[in-house]
Amino acid sequence: MKTPICFPLGLLLVASLCACGKSEPPAVSFKEDVMPILQSRCGGCHEPGQPGYEASGLSFADYDTVMAGTRFGPVVVPGDSFGSTLVVLVEGRADPTIAMPHGDKDPLLASEITRLRSWIDAGAENN
Ligand code: HEC
Repeated sequence: MKTPICFPLGLLLVASLCACGKSEPPAVSFKEDVMPILQSRCGGCHEPGQPGYEASGLSFADYDTVMAGTRFGPVVVPGDSFGSTLVVLVEGRADPTIAMPHGDKDPLLASEITRLRSWIDAGAENN
């Protein structure tokens, strides 16, 4: 008689665990979430021969170049999105003349900035 009782109890446990998981913010992936934003919104200007790259040395080609930052140093501080230069610029917290993206490009959506910040706050991993 054990099985008929344990089985529904087990299901209940699994179901409640799943419900719990859903209330957590979804993990942000560098490859799935961050890279598409950086490449579509920033990459074209931050590649060799283009003004963003030539002026700063910052390339959004892959994880290593993003983490290497500009020729003056990193723009992503793992665990500290508020203090990361990259976020300061896309949030327009620096001088408007150096807000990113540069030029007549549309600013990032709030949802895009949230994804960048979540990724950095979770440790800026190559995930
Ligand atoms: C139209 C060109 C262009 C686009 C698009 C662009 N950038 Fe830039 N970026 C530049 C230039 C030029 C510089 C050099 C510094 C300056 O002139 O403000 C730069 C510099 C930077 C720096 C270094 C700033 C510093 O002071 O160290 C960061 C970080 C940066 N860009 C991030 C981004 C991000 C993130 C995006 C996309 C949301 C982006 N850029 C899109 C042109 C661009």
